[in-house]
Order: sequence, then structure tokens, then C-alpha cells
Amino acid sequence: MDFIYKKRNPVVLNTTITDIPGDKSISHRSIIIGSLANNKSSFHNFLFSEDCINTINIFRDLGVKIETNLEAGTIQTQGVGLYGLRPCNKTLYTGNSGTSIRLISGILAGQKFDSEITGDSSIEKRPMKRIVEPLSLMNAEIYGNESLDQKNIFPPLHIKGNNLIKGMTYTLPVASAQVKSAVLLAALYTRDDVNIIEPAKCRDHTELMLKYFGVNLFISNNKISCSGPRQLQNPSTKSIYIPSDISSAAFFIVLGCLLPDSRICIPKAGLNKTRSRILDILIEMNARITISNVCSNDLEMYGDIAVESSSLKNIRIREEDIPFIIDEIPVLAIAALFGKGKLKITGAKELRVKESDRIASIVHLVSASGGKIIEYEDGFEIEGGSELHDFECNSSGDHRIAMSAVIAAIAANVNAVVKNCSCINTSFPDFFDIVKKLTI
Ligand code: S3P
Repeated sequence: MDFIYKKRNPVVLNTTITDIPGDKSISHRSIIIGSLANNKSSFHNFLFSEDCINTINIFRDLGVKIETNLEAGTIQTQGVGLYGLRPCNKTLYTGNSGTSIRLISGILAGQKFDSEITGDSSIEKRPMKRIVEPLSLMNAEIYGNESLDQKNIFPPLHIKGNNLIKGMTYTLPVASAQVKSAVLLAALYTRDDVNIIEPAKCRDHTELMLKYFGVNLFISNNKISCSGPRQLQNPSTKSIYIPSDISSAAFFIVLGCLLPDSRICIPKAGLNKTRSRILDILIEMNARITISNVCSNDLEMYGDIAVESSSLKNIRIREEDIPFIIDEIPVLAIAALFGKGKLKITGAKELRVKESDRIASIVHLVSASGGKIIEYEDGFEIEGGSELHDFECNSSGDHRIAMSAVIAAIAANVNAVVKNCSCINTSFPDFFDIVKKLTI
């Protein structure tokens, strides 16, 4: 599906967007951890996007009863306990979701049965050595397609069952929540101590949810230790609220900064400290953002975000902030096109192995629309303030590139064709409904 934007009278907004969907990372974890618990769990504001639906389908394939109500945005998992999953005689399918394939592989490594897991053509190009290596150190046996230079492994992954998972101390080579979570989930299948050392802190939703479900996790600075007997038990019969996804909200937060005379409010958005750095960075760039009604549900923090038209100034992004804003960098690049001065990002090589090579995709989008960008191996530099012109670009099948291009077209108010937008359904199925409401 292609998106066509026609230049129109300048859009001015004063609105509250109540339909930013639930957080994708937390939605995946709610199914995964809920399925492995000994009892029932209910969640609301669940993200019914393609990625999360694939995770639901996988656990159903593994024998878990999961009830969903799309209208109400709720799910209920009837947990089967750590050892209650059933073998599945077909290949488990994660679609476009790197989070699903990496996290679920950690669980499959601890089962008594063999499994095979794969995804779409983009997933078949995503590097898996990053999980195969640590899981193998825990005695897991995982085979995939080796690259010609043998430096990496790609799905489909064949995961052998019946291997006794053992403990280890592992230093993550990259700050990746997916890798950390794969190890933490495999750690549920041993009584040995498992220690993970993070090179830099990254999103901690798995740790928060495992702790909430009763796992002994000790976290100090960059070390996470799991010890003691493993059991997952939801401590409450109350439905757990999944905050709205800050990564999805970021598209409209940036739009709110860029449109003249506008004010956008986004209620109950996730404010977990490992995810909300994008707000700090935009504020440092002079964005007029206010946060109110901050609260927590024992698991995650959330609150209301209001953003008003702002004159942005570009800054140098600190490398230690990169893991905290990894998913917001494409839309930050759009903000930078309108900022004064240069925005420079380095130390972000991970962007090369996301749903697309996001550095190349950002360079393509910025150049197509008339912005100035220099590409680095591990980042880019954008000089803001160029007059943007009509453009056509291709999302490369990457949802966050597609949505960033749409935001660029609306903010610059130029004619634009964004090709290949169906991928937005992987994370934000209501994106175009919101865009339509805002731009009419
Ligand atoms: C995610 C972790 C991040 C992020 C992805 C979701 C998660 O990936 O980019 O969108 O839910 O754990 P990495 O672990 O590869 O950094």
C-alpha cells in the first residue's frame, strides 16, 4: 500500500490523541510471560498489531489458551506453567517480529521437544548469532542458516529440546533488550545462577515483568542476576494496564513540535526511564513538552504528554543515549530537518540491522525530501533548515521509516508518495486513521 499526501492549507492541531496503541515490547512480553505463568493473567490496552498477533498465534500453537477481545483491547492468558507448553508440528511463524523470534527462542531452548521458528523475508535476514551464542553457552542447541563468511546465523532456527539448560555469566556484546531477554527467559529453565552484564542499559520490560511474576532478579548497575527456584505466578487477579507505546507516540510528538500553532496531548503513555529518553532529547532541542499525571501500576510508569509547536535546535546525541532511543531515531531525523544547526548521531551501528538498514533508509528519505544528510557507518549528521520539496520514497518495508516519511510530508506540507506502507500494520494499525483525523 502506498500513501499519497497532497499539499493543503497548513494543518493546525489542538487535539488529544487517545488511540495511541499499547506498547509493543510490553504486549509481546505480556503474552510470553502470561503463557508461562501458573495462573491466569489479564492485560488491557494490548497492541493488536501483526507482530503481537503472531506472538499470540505462536503460544496458541504451543498449546496455551489465550482469549482476545480486539474491540476492548484486552487479552487473557491461561498460563500453563514453565513446563506446560506442547510441541508444535509446524514451523512457528513470527512474521516481521525480531522481538518474537529472539525472545521465544530463549524459551524453546529450555523445552523437552524440538522446534522450528522463522518469520518473513526480512526476519530471514536478521542476525541471530547474537542469541545463538549466549544460549549455546547455556547448553542450548540451535541451528540456522550460516552466512557464507560464517560470521552470522539466520532463521529458520531449529531448536533442539531435551538439553539441560545451565547457568552462566555473560557480557552482552551489544546493548540489546532482545538478547538480554532471550537469556533471561532461558534462565527460567535452570536452577543455576545466570548473570548478565550489559555494556549499556537498555529497555528493561522483561526484568520488570519477571520480577512482578515472582522471579528472583537482582539488578545492580549493569548486572542482572537470576537465582533461586523459578516459578511464574501472577500476584493479582486485576487486569494489568499496558501503557501506550512511547515509540508510536513519538511520531505525533514530533509532529506536534513541527506544526505551527499546535498542541497535541497523548494520555497514559509509557514513561519507563529506559524508553522515555526521546522526551529528554526533544526537550534539550527546545521542544515544548510537558508531562503530567505520572503514575505506575507496580510494573511500568506512565503519564500524559503534551506537546506544543516548538522552534527546535539540533544537538549532538550522546552515544550512551542511543540504546534508549533506538526506535525513535528515524522520527528524530525528521525533527532534525526542521531544527537549527546540526544533529549528529554516532555509535548507532545497530540501526543497520533493524527491520531495514535504518541508516540507509533515513539517508534515502532525507535526501529524497531535500534535506541535507551525511551518512556514517554508525550514524549520520543532518543539517536542519533546508526547504523541503515534494518527494517520493520507499519505506523498504520498515514500519518506522514509513511513518517517519508520512510525518515529514505533513510537517513540510509537500506532495509526497510513500511507497510500501503496509508494514505499518506490524506496530501501529491505527496510524492512518489518526493521520486522517488530524489532517482533514
Ligand atoms: C525490543 C528491543 C529493541 C528494539 C525493538 C524492540 C524489545 O531491539 O529496537 O524494536 O522489545 O526488546 P534490540 O534488542 O535489537 O535493540
